[in-house]
Amino acid sequence: MQSPFLLENESAYQAWRSRKLESYPTHALQLIVEVGDPRKPTQAECEAILRVCRKTNMAIYASKISPDPDKSIPRLLGQKLGLYRLDSNMLADEDGVTSLKVVESAPRQGYIPYTNRPIKWHTDGYYNSPDRQIRGMILHCVQSAGQGGENALLDHEIAYLLIRDENPDYVRALMQLDAMTIPARVEEDGVARPDAVGPVFSVHPESGDLHMRYTARTRSITWKQDAATLAAVAFLEKLLDSDLPYIYRARLEPGMGLICNNVLHDRAGFNDDETHRRLLYRARYYDRIAGTGVGEVYGL
Ligand SMILES: [Fe+2]
Repeated sequence: MQSPFLLENESAYQAWRSRKLESYPTHALQLIVEVGDPRKPTQAECEAILRVCRKTNMAIYASKISPDPDKSIPRLLGQKLGLYRLDSNMLADEDGVTSLKVVESAPRQGYIPYTNRPIKWHTDGYYNSPDRQIRGMILHCVQSAGQGGENALLDHEIAYLLIRDENPDYVRALMQLDAMTIPARVEEDGVARPDAVGPVFSVHPESGDLHMRYTARTRSITWKQDAATLAAVAFLEKLLDSDLPYIYRARLEPGMGLICNNVLHDRAGFNDDETHRRLLYRARYYDRIAGTGVGEVYGL
């Protein structure tokens, strides 16, 4: 496997790069796939989701099901697309699917995902141990907020591409096994864990797929103190803060959801009102969406 994401494979990278950028969507509307019922998508609907995901590592499905607090929705949809192995953190419900909403009681109280505050750019589970990295994710919207709560989304492969184009040494720095450390603590979503030390970018030894661990948080994070890492992180921050055409912005409305290979995302702050209390179900997986691997899509 000649992974284009390994720095030594320059010709594979160039071949992948030009195909990746060919007709690359520049608006969130291009990610939307209509589905009847996400619990039982038809084969054509699954193929449409897959087609979008093969390009951008994410798709937004839109269904007409009314606000329906059915936690089987992400699980059943995931199974149709190769997402099986759920990550279950301490605050996930027993079924491994997390209900994201404003919570004013312990133990969730005070953890940012359970408030209405904005969440900075990140990939999910960046503090997980190496054997529990999150490769796939579904966010299903049962109810949107009275106001706010949009997500910004960026394909992590595009982030990689822009960084490598800028300076391959930045990629090298971000691939160091000790590039990013999240010190031991009780995590924002309640997970008690040891130091999480690892690279930002890593390449799966068999599939050649790219994985990204990242958070834009500035507290309780230690970047490797070498010039290349610090410059790479500064460049990435600047990218995420810009109005790149590759950064999508979308608000999930009831019945809609995001299915992705754990792409970069943030969340705007929001305000609930009496009839619009934001509720999203989140399912995190150790699997990628089936059929979206770099070998399967690009045959490199
Ligand atoms: Fe997230």
